[in-house]
Amino acid sequence: MISKEKELKKIAVNIASCRLCQQGMSGLPVPGEGAVNAKLMFIGEAPGVEESKTGRPFIGRSGKLLTQILAEIGLKREEVFITSPVKYFPGRRAPTSQEIDHGRTHLLAQIKVIQPKFIVLMGTTAVKALLPDETFHAVKDHGRVVTQSGQTYFLTFHPAAALRSPKIWGGLMRADFKKLLKLL
Ligand code: URA
Repeated sequence: MISKEKELKKIAVNIASCRLCQQGMSGLPVPGEGAVNAKLMFIGEAPGVEESKTGRPFIGRSGKLLTQILAEIGLKREEVFITSPVKYFPGRRAPTSQEIDHGRTHLLAQIKVIQPKFIVLMGTTAVKALLPDETFHAVKDHGRVVTQSGQTYFLTFHPAAALRSPKIWGGLMRADFKKLLKLL
């Protein structure tokens, strides 16, 4: 049987050669990284400049905040899996619905391999990507647990929103992560 590591590498190779992923994007592919048996998968939006230069997810300002929030609930980045629905840097704009729809195909392949207990949807793009037929919203429904087709999701803010708002960072998002820790 092919190992989870090999399966994830195969998906990363597919992303690196995916013409559809690359349309209108720049920089290196950012497939995601972390533990192959992670109980928690954290899903963002799309890589930023820093990520597109290194091929690693969440290493810029938002990433530093995410790493800090994880540490506050006693988790290391290496213990979880971190990725985004969109695998390339779209420039300073939000990804389009078509880009999210396409990115979902690679993301679902990764989820199938990892089989996490919880998928943490950080922000509206992550919610759109994985709960597309529902009316959930990352802001309105933050802190909510949603189970669909046997998969459990936890909704919260994108770290970039927390960087912009002390209220989100200092209170709401922190409280969400504490709740998440209790659920584990
Ligand atoms: N924001 C994201 O959503 N993903 C990254 O990898 C970096 C910033």
